[in-house]
Amino acid sequence: MAIVNVPDKNLMLENAGEITKYLASIGIDYERWENKQDVSPDASATEILAAYSEEIEKLKAKGGYVTADVIDIKSDTPNLDAMLDKFRPEHWHDEDEVRVIVKGCGIFHIAPVGGDVTAVKMMAGDMIRVPKGTRHWFDLDNTRTVRAIRLFQDVSGWTPIYTQSGLEKNY
Ligand SMILES: [Fe+2]
Repeated sequence: MAIVNVPDKNLMLENAGEITKYLASIGIDYERWENKQDVSPDASATEILAAYSEEIEKLKAKGGYVTADVIDIKSDTPNLDAMLDKFRPEHWHDEDEVRVIVKGCGIFHIAPVGGDVTAVKMMAGDMIRVPKGTRHWFDLDNTRTVRAIRLFQDVSGWTPIYTQSGLEKNY
């Protein structure tokens, strides 16, 4: 279950309904994906994609996504910090960033224009859709492990465009 933290409002949310409502108010879709088929978080990418195919197909139809894959990041992934350094500065993309956490943890910070920076700590079973153009940044927690389903409208469109604001340094 995700945890939402809005430091400038001194607000912390740990209830799925409240999280969904708050994130919707800043343009972010959040869902809980149930592990109905009891697939292991360490199953092959093919098995993971098959187990969640119903939800994936629904989301594809809704958002125009054409492909899905599974990304695996572990603490011993080569060049992990160099990889994370691409996502740690505030940026946006020309396409939606859609992630479903299967294992581990990923922390998104959303920086709505004119709104409060919102940290979303994503755990297994959490789906987030960060619409294209939304300012955000991403990091891991200290376990430095995440396995996630990703959906793409166009794989080549998923390049970070940096704002150079330096905002991430304050959070
Ligand atoms: Fe991103």
